[in-house]
Amino acid sequence: MDEVSVRPARRLRGEVRLPGDKSISHRALLLALLAPGRSLITGAGDGRDVRATADVATALGATLTRLGSDARTVDYLVESPGRGGLAEPEGVLDCRNSGTTFRLVAGILAGLPGLGVLDGDVSLRRRPMARIAEPLAAMGATVVGRAGTTRAPFAITGSTALRGIEHVTSVPSAQVKSCVLLAGLAATGTTMVREALPTRDHTERMLRARGVPVSTRLLADGGAIHAVAGPATVSPLDEQVPGDISGAAFWLVAGAIHPDADLLLRNVGTNPTRRGIIDLLRRMGAEIEERPVGSGPGGESGEPIADLAVRSSTLHGIEVDPAEVAGAIDEVPILCLAAAVASGRSRIRGVGELRHKESDRVAGIVAGLTALGARIRADGDEIEIEGGRTLRGAAVDSHDDHRLALTFAVAGLIAEGTTLVGGSASADVSYPGFFDELERVRA
Ligand code: S3P
Repeated sequence: MDEVSVRPARRLRGEVRLPGDKSISHRALLLALLAPGRSLITGAGDGRDVRATADVATALGATLTRLGSDARTVDYLVESPGRGGLAEPEGVLDCRNSGTTFRLVAGILAGLPGLGVLDGDVSLRRRPMARIAEPLAAMGATVVGRAGTTRAPFAITGSTALRGIEHVTSVPSAQVKSCVLLAGLAATGTTMVREALPTRDHTERMLRARGVPVSTRLLADGGAIHAVAGPATVSPLDEQVPGDISGAAFWLVAGAIHPDADLLLRNVGTNPTRRGIIDLLRRMGAEIEERPVGSGPGGESGEPIADLAVRSSTLHGIEVDPAEVAGAIDEVPILCLAAAVASGRSRIRGVGELRHKESDRVAGIVAGLTALGARIRADGDEIEIEGGRTLRGAAVDSHDDHRLALTFAVAGLIAEGTTLVGGSASADVSYPGFFDELERVRA
């Protein structure tokens, strides 16, 4: 198994380089595929997930040119005939480890004539997919998959006569919301998605910025209803992708929990539906300075961007409710690490969906942090952590889940002795070059 050993850092200093935001990169590529013409995407994440989306966009008829890249980001020129000119894919569309690719592309295939087959790796084949099959079938697509169409692979026969529906998501999920809204672009009539807790709104913002009016109504009960009228045409738009807040989260925690740290993160996306980790860490006492530096393209729909600075802090435990989890869903593992070393007790409620990510992240974080000496337990939908522990290096298994691998690597920076992170190559899914950055800032 691929394994990296991490020793404690004497200090953490300097500017950390981030990959482009993964969620925005997927959407920028797929909306460029739907838009007739040329779209320039700068600073896209160059991890394995976004590459999977790039390959799928190519298989569906776009021409992608990689204009330049460093270890973490890439610029793409996308030339597409637009939705009306897309080709029936010749082979299987391999989404690899990327749930976002699978679910968003399914929404696009639903409105295309012909057959599209979506598949992925063993992890993706375990993830729940009925949540997209049901609304797409209700709109008029023919969806067939394994295990009663609850699991990948999926064969989708699209329809040019999709109908708008009103869909209530069964769990808060930006991927499901986006799948249905993207199908709604090809449907006749209005497609509405109601969610009990608001999830990341990149799709809505990015569609608006590309000339598609998507309305959002916030409800008194904390939920939201999004609507798009179809059929709708997406206009091409050049996108500058901000740094990934989900990648930044590892450094925010590393800086806050390390006794001698001062780190700078430039151009981080701070979209209100994604910035939960900043606010939760601050509530724990983290010294994080935020300097807004404007917003990405798209006028009022643009993504807010800020420079973040973090330094060694004294943390205390907090209570996190389910609505807050929705705004920090991918950051729960690294938040658990912060809670393990903070003083006092933390409780994170509403983490059930984490069991259906690239791995069962609830089980994985409990097992890994326990091996490192933390006191953490899960009970149904809740994680409880008794903080104030000194962590000791151990062999921990990330189960090839990038967010767990990155969390355990950060733990290794403060744990006594050596931490062996199993499945460390998975870091490349969202944060290629992470271990090089780690070497650089600990020097
Ligand atoms: C994502 C949405 C989230 C998140 C995932 C990326 C997206 O999943 O966990 O990493 O880009 O829409 P769900 O919406 O399924 O919770």
